[in-house]
Formats: sequence, C-alpha cells, structure tokens
Amino acid sequence: MNKIKWMIFAILATALFVLAGCTEDNKADNGEKDTNTDSNEETAKVVNLYTSRHYDVDADLYEKFKEETGIEVNVVEGKGDELMERLDREGEATEADVFITADAGNLARLKEKGLTQAIESDVLSANIPEKLRDVDNEWFGLTKRARIIVYSKDRVDPENLSTYDTLTESEWQDRVLIRSSENIYNQSLMASFIELSGEEVAKEWATGIVNNMARDPQGGDTDQMKAIAAGEGDVAIVNTYYVGRLLNSENPEEVSVGEQLGVFFPNQDTTGTHINISGAAVTKHAKNVENAIKFIEFLSNVEAQEVFAEANNEYPVNESAKISETLQSWGEFKEQDINLTILGENNAKAIQLFNEVGWK
Ligand code: FE2
Repeated sequence: MNKIKWMIFAILATALFVLAGCTEDNKADNGEKDTNTDSNEETAKVVNLYTSRHYDVDADLYEKFKEETGIEVNVVEGKGDELMERLDREGEATEADVFITADAGNLARLKEKGLTQAIESDVLSANIPEKLRDVDNEWFGLTKRARIIVYSKDRVDPENLSTYDTLTESEWQDRVLIRSSENIYNQSLMASFIELSGEEVAKEWATGIVNNMARDPQGGDTDQMKAIAAGEGDVAIVNTYYVGRLLNSENPEEVSVGEQLGVFFPNQDTTGTHINISGAAVTKHAKNVENAIKFIEFLSNVEAQEVFAEANNEYPVNESAKISETLQSWGEFKEQDINLTILGENNAKAIQLFNEVGWK
C-alpha cells in the first residue's frame, strides 16, 4: 500500500510541477505582451519614425541600422506640417518615437508644443556641433543647409554682390525673387537677422526687399530659380540643396536652369551666411526611447551622415563626414555663428515684422 501511496504522490507532484511550469510560461508570454503597452518597452526591437524626408537611400540606411542593432525602423512619411499636426492630435497614444523634419524653426515649434523630450547622449554631443542642437537637448541637427543668393550669370556680376542687405539697394529694384514670408525658411532667416542686428535693422531689410521684389512672392525656392532663367528677376534667395537638386536632376531643362545660376554666399566679411538644419527629436510620448536614441546616434555617425546628407545635397553636421562633389565645387564659406535655438525664440517676432512691412 505504501508503494501505491508513494506513486500517487509522485504523479501528483509531477503534475503540479508541470502545471507550475505552464504558469511560468504564461507569465512570460503575458510579460512580453505587457511590454508593448506599459513603460518597460525596450525589449521591443522597433523604432517608429515620422519623417518629412523621402529618399531611397534613407531606406537603405534604416536597413543597415537593423543589421547592426536588430532594431527595425517603421517609417511614416508625410509633409512636415501634417505629421506635426498628427503627432499633436495623437497625444500620448502616438506610436512615433522619432520625428525628423526640416528647419530649426519647425523643431522649435514641436518643442514648444510639448511634443519632444530631452535626451542625454555623449555620442550626439560629440558628433553634432553645439549650435546645431537644441539648448535643452530636445532636438538635434542631422543635416545642414545654407540660405544663399543665386544670380543670373548672364545679367549679374558677382562683384556687385556682398550681403543680404545689399539686395535692398536701388540697384536691385524689381530684380529680387523670394518666396512668401509664410515660409519657415524666410522666417528663420529673419529670426537670425533679429538676433544679429536687432529688430529695427531686420525690419528695414524686409522693407527694402519688399520694395525690390521682381514680383509678389509665389512658389517655392525652385520656382524663384526658374523665374531667373525665365528672365523675371536676376537674383533669388534660396536654400543650397535646391540648387544642388537642379544641377543633379534627371530632367535636362532643370539642369539647364541650374547652370544659368551662380552661387553666392553672402555676408562673408560680416556675420556669415544663414544656415539651418533638418533634424530629429525623440517624441514626448515615445514608447521606445532607448531605440530612438540609438537610431539618432546612428544617423549622426560619419558613414550614415555622408549618405543621409548627400541624398538631399546637404552638408553633414558631423564635421568628419565628407561633402558631395556639388557642394565641394562651391567652396567653403563662413556661417552665421548663432545657436539655432534662437531661430525658434525669434520666430513670432519675425512673422510680426514681415506682416508690418507687407511681405506677403
Ligand atoms: Fe525645402
């Protein structure tokens, strides 16, 4: 009898042990599922990206990032404004971990709306110059562009060009092409002038430009360059990558427009040429913060920088990275020396001054 009792006990004990094992397995399963909904998310090998960029090489970089880290990049592409509205609307429920958009002014808006968070990263501090990062580490520049003067090689002697201010002189009456003041690039340009020269001088500049406009502002930067080629005006203020895009276009007509233009970096003997960035932020409600930081760090590394920047004919922010042949051909230039956080701080004032002088 004792033997039988002992066998029954052994069977029951084994059954309990197996059941306990199952329970452990279930717990592990539940645990994994839980990490998708609560704060301990870092086991999920993904980073969700909202980006206003759309270049084929970006997808290759994301693939490379996955190979190196095992972290998959899920991409939502769209226009910067629309993605920003979406991020705002989604609030805490958003899936976005990283947001990439153009212009420090836009990144400052994200921060102001409470949609970004501060991150600490020695890698980013080492790879990205201080003036190209938010002062509170809530966004980081990844590529750099300059807002320059382009001119008709046929009708303009570059000897007559020097500063942004020069374009307000009577010599340039009805010859200046520039887009609307509603555009963030112009707002950031104006914000930089407010910082460097004060409100009064900035306002005088805007007044002078309005007086010398070849036409009411219309279209984007590329349209201003096409208007030079069409003879509607002789000089335009545009971002460098748009010139690079024309020169490297598959469309021969666009290449022809680009070749009719000279590239001029203004203010070389004074405050330097206005520069801006496209950049990235970790979102306020990111569920994969560690992965998000790793991803931005990856994009700031030399190898990725050379690919990421060149895709849009931009300057890498990492000073060890090489620049494209097109950019090399324009030579080095002196940049405005201001922290780009200031562009966001002066944005409202810039818009106000534009409105006061009637810049459409
Ligand atoms: Fe642009």
